[in-house]
Amino acid sequence: MMAPILNPTPEAITRAAKALRAGRLVAMPTETVYGLAARADDPVAVASIYTAKGRPKFNPLIAHCANLEMAQREGDFSANALKLAAAFWPGPLTLVVNLASSHTVCDLARAGLDSIAIRVPAHPVAQALLSEIGQPLVAPSANPSGKISPTEAAHVAADMGEKLDLILDGGVCQAGVESTIIDARGKAPALLRPGSLDPDQIESVWPGLIRPAQNPDAPQSPGQLLRHYAPNARLRLNADAPHDSEAYLGFGPGPATLNLSATQDLTEAASNLFSMLRRLDAVHDKIAVAPIPNHGLGEAINDRLTRAAQQ
Ligand code: TXA
Ligand code: MG
Repeated sequence: MMAPILNPTPEAITRAAKALRAGRLVAMPTETVYGLAARADDPVAVASIYTAKGRPKFNPLIAHCANLEMAQREGDFSANALKLAAAFWPGPLTLVVNLASSHTVCDLARAGLDSIAIRVPAHPVAQALLSEIGQPLVAPSANPSGKISPTEAAHVAADMGEKLDLILDGGVCQAGVESTIIDARGKAPALLRPGSLDPDQIESVWPGLIRPAQNPDAPQSPGQLLRHYAPNARLRLNADAPHDSEAYLGFGPGPATLNLSATQDLTEAASNLFSMLRRLDAVHDKIAVAPIPNHGLGEAINDRLTRAAQQ
């Protein structure tokens, strides 16, 4: 049966919390992308996330918490990790920390690791749901494994509608790309996944950010599969202009089938990325994408585009 898309009234939040407590799946909006949520302490519920997404293996999931207090029951935060949390939570930052002895998040959700990825989302609907349920929720992006992440309730309904209890409609996700993941266990912060929090902002709070390329031995964020976020269409990146048969995803002034940002605003481009890829993918076989500068949020955008372009 098709999951209903509900306006996030208090009644709908309560209904969602009830479904989650019963071990069922709910789609919740966050400021980055829509998440497929399940209670984090229930291995059966967590297993049904992997089934619903068709994930090839048990990647660890992010535990979404209502606040720092809830987060500190799950993970041990160093002084520097606490600084990052104080600066950017609630918001699009995920911190990997050591597992706390008081943790409730089940082994399967962590893929058996003794670390845990935690984030406190800023979206008011996610906040309301987490406060009502009073325990962490794991939530990967609410799309089939490898496909484009959803930034609207309708995307979730189209891709996953048969596999959930309900979809909370929080409108269009503001950030549009996933959270930035930082491994906060070491002497310096390590970037595991570029995302919608600009890495320069991390630097300003805890300097010395280690980039993936400088850090080849670091435990990879297992979600960083090369082919990911993939449309059906063939993508050609760094294209200054489209070929005859191609749609053009632009960045900057000039003609384009769709434009990530006519004013070359990277924040706007990030928020448009997945929804524009979806719209082009629905009607075109070939998509050329304009060059995107690799600074600030451009790093996350180029990361997603490179994965989406893998054959
Ligand atoms: O913005 C987001 O983070 C979205 C929204 C829904 O919150 N969620 C999301 O979840 O992107 P997901 O499951 O698609 O990505 C989780 C990432 C994966 O790359 C996974 O490998 C990494 O987090 N991860 C989880 N636990 C980890 C750990 N203990 N160590 C390193 N990486 C971890
Ligand atoms: Mg994902």
